[in-house]
Amino acid sequence: MSVHIAAKKGEIAKIVLQPGDPLRAKYIADHFLEEVKLVSQTRNIYYFTGKYKGKEISVGASGMGIPSIGIYSYELFTEFDVDTIIRIGTCGAYTSDLKLFDLLNVEFSASESTYAKFAWGIEGDLISHQGTAFGQINETAKGMDLDIKPTHIHTSDIFYRKEEGLPALAAKYNCSAVEMEAFALFANAQHLGKNAATILTVSDIIPTREQISADQREKALKPMIELALETALK
Ligand code: HPA
Repeated sequence: MSVHIAAKKGEIAKIVLQPGDPLRAKYIADHFLEEVKLVSQTRNIYYFTGKYKGKEISVGASGMGIPSIGIYSYELFTEFDVDTIIRIGTCGAYTSDLKLFDLLNVEFSASESTYAKFAWGIEGDLISHQGTAFGQINETAKGMDLDIKPTHIHTSDIFYRKEEGLPALAAKYNCSAVEMEAFALFANAQHLGKNAATILTVSDIIPTREQISADQREKALKPMIELALETALK
């Protein structure tokens, strides 16, 4: 047990798929895993462990934002000996060069957040994916005939803002999309020497205000879920 995860030691697999939403974790467990066990439901942040094609995998939520994923990913790495976390989330595209449903493999996350600096003394506003998972995702996607773009993204604390233009940091690093978690996941993994990757599905195009509708979401996220699961077999 850790402060925020009620699972016992040994009840979480070495590899964890981490959506933001607890109900998405449940959806993945219900539809893709066998021999599933609910191992934590503290604060309704569900963690499940089961088997995918015979391999033990856990799936559990990060919640929204840097503080939340900072807590869950740290406890997974340090209290449950997790080696690899693959975040699977959605993002807003800053450019209409990206289309709804596009799949992104995050190469670097840029953030105004002070999390990495004040937690671990990691200086700078850009952090890379960590370890081998990023490359395995690209390789797996190729084998599945799925298009995935290696991408720089912006991890922001802000969902609603006054200014409509591209935030300065996103312009500086040529970030084509925004989400709210990858930077802290990568910072924790860098500090601890673990593997961390982030796969994103474009759920909205910010300049045109197009969005995936609520009833399209399930279908929209299936390729990303399957890609993460197949990568976890590597
Ligand atoms: N901003 C931040 N996070 C997001 C967005 C967004 O527009 N869309 C999906 N996740």
